[in-house]
Amino acid sequence: MMQNKILTDYKKGAQFERRFFPSSWCESENTLFFVCEDEEIIGMVGLKIILDTAEVLCVATDENYRGKGIAFTLMKMAENECLKRGITEINLEVRVSNPAVYLYKKCGFDTVGTRKNYYTAPTEDALLMTRRLK
Ligand SMILES: CC(C)(COP(=O)(O)OP(=O)(O)OC[C@H]1O[C@@H](n2cnc3c(N)ncnc32)[C@H](O)[C@@H]1OP(=O)(O)O)[C@@H](O)C(=O)NCCC(=O)NCCS
Repeated sequence: MMQNKILTDYKKGAQFERRFFPSSWCESENTLFFVCEDEEIIGMVGLKIILDTAEVLCVATDENYRGKGIAFTLMKMAENECLKRGITEINLEVRVSNPAVYLYKKCGFDTVGTRKNYYTAPTEDALLMTRRLK
């Protein structure tokens, strides 16, 4: 059964995350949301909250479950949590070539700038995107 969760099992979250990202954001001070199927994580989003702003650290969906709206659901869960906490804007950086850009646009993020050659291996620009909540 598919379930949405705010997980406290950071170890399990970090295991999932390492499949997609070289460094882990699953630290206890970050706010993490997961979608699980039969107790197995199939999607996650991580947020760092700093005063009245939030930063999206990571978003990932298991390859077998992509294209079903899981990442969109996770982003909306994160947004609702931000609204509850009085956060006024959510920020993120993403590789210009990452299809996640379309996800963020669908979630209401605007491109507000670029960072030249921000990423390495391969070298690539970052888009800076923001969603204002108020
Ligand atoms: C990006 C990623 C999180 C999308 O997950 P997903 O669960 O398949 O996304 P969803 O099904 O919720 O898609 C929601 C919307 O995002 C957009 N989108 C998602 N994947 C897309 C793709 N490959 N190409 C184009 N648009 C895409 C679409 O607008 C989609 O809405 P639609 O289906 O109505 O067209 C997933 O591909 C992934 O885990 N990638 C690897 C990790 C990563 O690079 N994360 C982002 C940087 S942190």
